[in-house]
Amino acid sequence: MSRVLYLLGTAAPPVLDLPATVTSAQVRGWDVCVGLTPTAAGWLESEFDALTELTAHRVKSRYRRPGERDDRPPADVALLAPTTLNSVNSIALGLTPSWPIAYAVEALGRRAPLAVMPCVKDTLASHPQFGRSVQTLRDAGAQVLLGPDGFTPHTSGQAGPYPWADALDAVSEM
Ligand SMILES: Cc1cc2nc3c(=O)[nH]c(=O)nc-3n(C[C@H](O)[C@H](O)[C@H](O)COP(=O)(O)O)c2cc1C
Repeated sequence: MSRVLYLLGTAAPPVLDLPATVTSAQVRGWDVCVGLTPTAAGWLESEFDALTELTAHRVKSRYRRPGERDDRPPADVALLAPTTLNSVNSIALGLTPSWPIAYAVEALGRRAPLAVMPCVKDTLASHPQFGRSVQTLRDAGAQVLLGPDGFTPHTSGQAGPYPWADALDAVSEM
């Protein structure tokens, strides 16, 4: 049986690559479930039906209602990518403004496998809270894909290709 990957996206431009990334993950043998923060869901709304058809799972962008069942299989590994400054900091601070971020917060609490690949320009990465948040996530057991084997903060307007292959390599090894 395929291992289940929760691919959780936040509102940075590489989230628009998610349909192609789902396919790449499936080629590597993953059963993929997609989750999006509300802002990212707004950006990808036109792709919801295609993503549902591609993954055979509903795209999840909101908390379930009390009593509502979640019919998705439990994750073996979760990959939060791309991850905004807002979401990196929210997880580190234990805030749960949306379902994907709450999932990541709980994954840390359970010590469940979690990889986080940020997407922040250098001026955001220089904010003192960013480094503290990255360290908090690492101390709690998350694999933060930042630097040579992951994402390197870019100068505004000069983003290179987002290293999706590095992220998929990392989760394959988890
Ligand atoms: C076109 C556009 C590009 C953005 N790119 C980034 C980005 O690369 N990194 C980032 O941290 N925020 C970026 N933002 C800001 C986030 O979308 C914003 O902080 C949002 O509130 C994040 O919400 P989320 O973390 O819940 O998805 C961008 C916003 C826009 C409109």
